Amino acid sequence: MVRTLDITLAPEAETPLYRQIAERVIALIKAGELRPGLRLPPTRRLADELSTNRNTVVRAFEELTAGGWVTSLVGRGTFVADAPPATRQTPPADLSRSDLPWAMLLSRATESEPLARLERLSRSPAHGDVINLTKMQPSADLLPDVELRRCVDHVFKTHGADALGYGPRQGLPRLRELIAEDLQRNGVPALPDDILVTTGSQQGIDLIARALVNPDDAFLVEARTYSGALNVLAASGARVVGVPSDEDGPDLVALEALERPRAKGLYVMPNSRNPTGTTMSRARREALVAWSQRNGVPLVEDDYGADLALDGTPAPTALRALDPNVFHVGTFSKKLIPALRVGFVVCPPALTRTLVNLKHAMDLGTSMLLQLALAEFLERGYLRRHLSRSLPVYRARRDALEAGLHRWLPPGFGWRQPTRGVVLWLPLPDGLDPEEVFEEAKREGVLVSPSTLYSTSAPAQAGVRMVYCAEPPERLEEGARRLGRAIEQVARRRRAAATSKLVSPMTVDLM
Ligand SMILES: Cc1ncc(COP(=O)(O)O)c(C=O)c1O
Repeated sequence: MVRTLDITLAPEAETPLYRQIAERVIALIKAGELRPGLRLPPTRRLADELSTNRNTVVRAFEELTAGGWVTSLVGRGTFVADAPPATRQTPPADLSRSDLPWAMLLSRATESEPLARLERLSRSPAHGDVINLTKMQPSADLLPDVELRRCVDHVFKTHGADALGYGPRQGLPRLRELIAEDLQRNGVPALPDDILVTTGSQQGIDLIARALVNPDDAFLVEARTYSGALNVLAASGARVVGVPSDEDGPDLVALEALERPRAKGLYVMPNSRNPTGTTMSRARREALVAWSQRNGVPLVEDDYGADLALDGTPAPTALRALDPNVFHVGTFSKKLIPALRVGFVVCPPALTRTLVNLKHAMDLGTSMLLQLALAEFLERGYLRRHLSRSLPVYRARRDALEAGLHRWLPPGFGWRQPTRGVVLWLPLPDGLDPEEVFEEAKREGVLVSPSTLYSTSAPAQAGVRMVYCAEPPERLEEGARRLGRAIEQVARRRRAAATSKLVSPMTVDLM
């Protein structure tokens, strides 16, 4: 950590004090006096040293963060960014030109903790030959572009320019019928009238939050859950409450013990939970539905991985099949093509109109052209054909990743084999910080998702998530090798830090 910063403030100058601090720090970074990774002094101490208000320093650090010069790690401090934008032509002038008080104008939602995590972990992009195991989408070679093109051509031939306008508010009726048929085949009772087509299932979760949440209402999620759900719930102003979970889903005892006022909903992924990949048993599903009915808390069932059963086993009964008041959210992004941006919500009948109106208010409708093309795609049976081609490939990729992990991870690691979906969850032993593993793995050339992205206040084991559908087997094995090396590095550093603490209590805080 840098002990002090060479800054002299000029209170009488026209430039506000926070900007003077920010500009000086930028100058020190550009001069090479503050190197990447160096920790800046805590805001309170710097404020004391400069005889100024702490808020002034906080605001300066916010400006520096927004400009990409530093990175803030919650609970650890502020660090000079790995890749500061040093090549920018006129950063001090840029700063002084942005003279609106953005820090004061921005809504509280933009400062929410899940969004801050996302920002922190997507900073300083990886370079070179990186194996990306974070993207939950198939590699280009598996996407059915030829079939989709045929369907788009057909839509133009048969509908002409009629395909290019706004569509019905609830979604194309033919598409809703086809979705309902597909759901019924999978044991989810659904009427076309209860289905709302959305722009990705992300919008489905967002609309449900908008329909139910007033600022500061509690909304329940599992202790580890999909980061995108955390983001939209936080953005809606909800107080997101993590419920302790086991391998089988939310802990019923913990749910029963929750204090009033009651929550506005509980978001779950019964099949192939993201990030842990596990599936809820039928018994837990029944217990959850009974809890929801007793307590008047609606369930949101996100079945994002529907149809991705690697061993062909059907999923246990859907929550929606147990209770028509469950919001059932689905998507074509994971089983077919993310770029369609087509998802859907099977709404509780009493709420269909509300969600349709909200959806219309948000975006005036999901692309009519793509809905028509998707309906054609489904009618031609291309989805089933695509799945029968891609599922064996995913299975082989999962096996390749597992083989690599068995080979390259240090002894003592274990994980559950995923049988549905496209993610493998690797629990980390106590003492291995998932973000440190993420950073080290990035340096080694493999991207994995640290558990902090998915975490709530409820305690849960640390780990990293790996997506195996997007890379060929040899790259997955190589990714496992790089991750193994990263984990060994982090563990070695931990051991060295523990030893040096034993030797001398006066350790220097380097990071
Ligand atoms: C669990 C889960 N739900 C929903 C989504 C949103 O996907 P889309 O908006 O593409 O349908 C994702 C995306 O990764 C996800 O992982």
